Amino acid sequence: MYNEKVMQEFAAPQNVGFIEDADGVGKVGNASCGDIMEISMKIDDSGIITDAKFRTFGCAAAIATSSVATRMVIGKHIDDALSIKNSDVVETLEGLPPQKIHCSVLAEEAIKEAIADYKAKK
Ligand code: FES
Repeated sequence: MYNEKVMQEFAAPQNVGFIEDADGVGKVGNASCGDIMEISMKIDDSGIITDAKFRTFGCAAAIATSSVATRMVIGKHIDDALSIKNSDVVETLEGLPPQKIHCSVLAEEAIKEAIADYKAKK
């Protein structure tokens, strides 16, 4: 069902955890499958995301997309991170089964939520 890239990412996800003194936290869920994804970020004064971690209660695709999403945002300015689309995450994973595309949408939403949280706190 999953390609090798997704399985590798799922088997050895990066940036698992939670940043206790995070500047922004985004927690999103999908009502139909019940999966939950949370991304926490450290963001410096110039708006660069210096660290990102995730905690995901969900399927293999949700874990894999979370891992990729955190890697994609680290080092980026928040404005650039906001332009990351779920299709970018899917592309990095070299594809997801059609019924698993919504898992990548969670990753895009979690990024946006974390940045919105950061902006709200500022
Ligand atoms: Fe819902 Fe993967 S099945 S996030």
